[in-house]
Amino acid sequence: MTIKIGDFEFDRDRILESAPAAEPQRQLYFCARVREILKARFERDLSSGEALLRYGKEGLQALEEEGAYATFHIETYGCQMNAKDSEKLSGLLIQSGFRETETEDADFVLYNTCTVRENANQKVYGHLGYVHSLKKKHPSMLVGICGCMMQEPEEVEKIRKSYRFVDIIFGTHNIFKLAELLFDRLTTGRMEVDVWEGTSEIVEDLPAERKYSFKSGINIMFGCNNFCSYCIVPYVRGRERSREPEDILAEIRKLASEGVVEVMLLGQNVNSYGKTLSMPISFAKLLRRVEEIDGIERIRFMTSHPKDLSDELIQVMKDSKKICRHLHLPVQSGSTEILKKMNRRYTKEQYLALVDRIKTAIPDISLTTDIIVGFPGETEEDFQDTLDVVRKVRYDSAFTFIYSKRSGTPAAAMENQVPEEIVKDRFDRLLREVQQIAAEVCGRDVHTVQKVLVEEKNSHMDGYVTGRMSNNTLVHFPGDESLIGSIIDVYLEESKGFYYMGRQEV
Ligand code: SAH
Ligand code: SF4
Ligand code: F3S
Repeated sequence: MTIKIGDFEFDRDRILESAPAAEPQRQLYFCARVREILKARFERDLSSGEALLRYGKEGLQALEEEGAYATFHIETYGCQMNAKDSEKLSGLLIQSGFRETETEDADFVLYNTCTVRENANQKVYGHLGYVHSLKKKHPSMLVGICGCMMQEPEEVEKIRKSYRFVDIIFGTHNIFKLAELLFDRLTTGRMEVDVWEGTSEIVEDLPAERKYSFKSGINIMFGCNNFCSYCIVPYVRGRERSREPEDILAEIRKLASEGVVEVMLLGQNVNSYGKTLSMPISFAKLLRRVEEIDGIERIRFMTSHPKDLSDELIQVMKDSKKICRHLHLPVQSGSTEILKKMNRRYTKEQYLALVDRIKTAIPDISLTTDIIVGFPGETEEDFQDTLDVVRKVRYDSAFTFIYSKRSGTPAAAMENQVPEEIVKDRFDRLLREVQQIAAEVCGRDVHTVQKVLVEEKNSHMDGYVTGRMSNNTLVHFPGDESLIGSIIDVYLEESKGFYYMGRQEV
């Protein structure tokens, strides 16, 4: 099939035949082909005057400066995994001749969705309504949806039927194929739906666009095998797969050579990292090796499941100069009964004992957590157990969630779903407790000097910058942009509950 765009002509079948079979070469090939198509479209629209209307003078200049021929925008929902996936998707789009824009008024808009709770889904449908109105004005615009929600067949069906203007649908297992999907959409005009049920494949060495120059997330594993009874993640992210340690270390060394000083190792359950590899290695050992990399000054990781947190890990954290003094340790509930129904595989006592071991070994650690209120069958007594854990652990902060029924998970079929008013009341009481304790705990370092990684210009106060302490607390202090990316000493003058005001110590 020969396709003509302006003066540019190409044979779709020949292009497909010559595509390399191996990854990532195949995707880099499709990036190059998409770039040719976008360039041809752009040049046609430039000569017709349409491009000027679409982008304005400044927009055209911005495209030229970046050597791009079209614009894209990604809306990202959900957790750090999705944020990381969006960086990879952006990398592929930039390689394909796109330039990123701030708003959804772009040539390609992609929604990277989350489905962990009901309200995450609702937000996406809201945005789809809006983008449809944009597309009516610019019919050549492309709309894509990917991410966890697209791993649910009912959601895909709903979009196919009721959101016919969507051009590309793919899931969490094949984000690396974005350029190939775009190529197909651009050359056939058909809606492309490509959702995989699962995969054991991990494609390395794809381009990625980092949001920050000085810090970066790194996937160390994908998927989850825990099947907590309320949680959709194992169904939409598939079985647990760890990356080879050498691949991870090589990526971090490269990042360090590019000026990255802080890494965040990402996985749904990092404490079980390495167990499925042909040469098993523990997460603690991986951390020791990351620690040896010159240039990396801070190491963070997320998320830790309490059942798999080893004494070896506590020891490595204690010995480390680089691992940050922060541990996110989701408890979900303080009631042993509810924890059992949640399939968390620890008891209230085991969790508290673990926290004790951690605090004894690393007294300056900050602990944060996730808590779900209103899990099916939760009684006032169970809820009191949760409050009790909150009071005993004294978290620096806690993400509190109202239980959301996810169809397909075992909890959705459980009896005794808790009435909404009761859940709301418990949620409010929990939030008050969490906030009061956090305000007391967070201020403990006031009037000391702390190492702070400067992250950005303060958006509210002119002449101020914002940085992060090792324990994840934010500090605002007078300074200029030249400090961004460096780790400096800051005196904490005043605690504001959840953050500090400080001054640079010279
Ligand atoms: N892997 C991480 C969590 C990923 S999901 C862990 O195990 O800690 C992030 C958080 O969303 C969870 O910790 C949980 O508190 C919350 N969550 C997950 N499913 C939920 C549901 N059905 N309703 C309410 N909150 C939920
Ligand atoms: Fe969900 Fe549990 Fe896996 Fe976390 S560990 S992603 S809560 S199933
Ligand atoms: Fe949401 Fe998927 Fe993360 S469901 S929380 S984006 S793994």
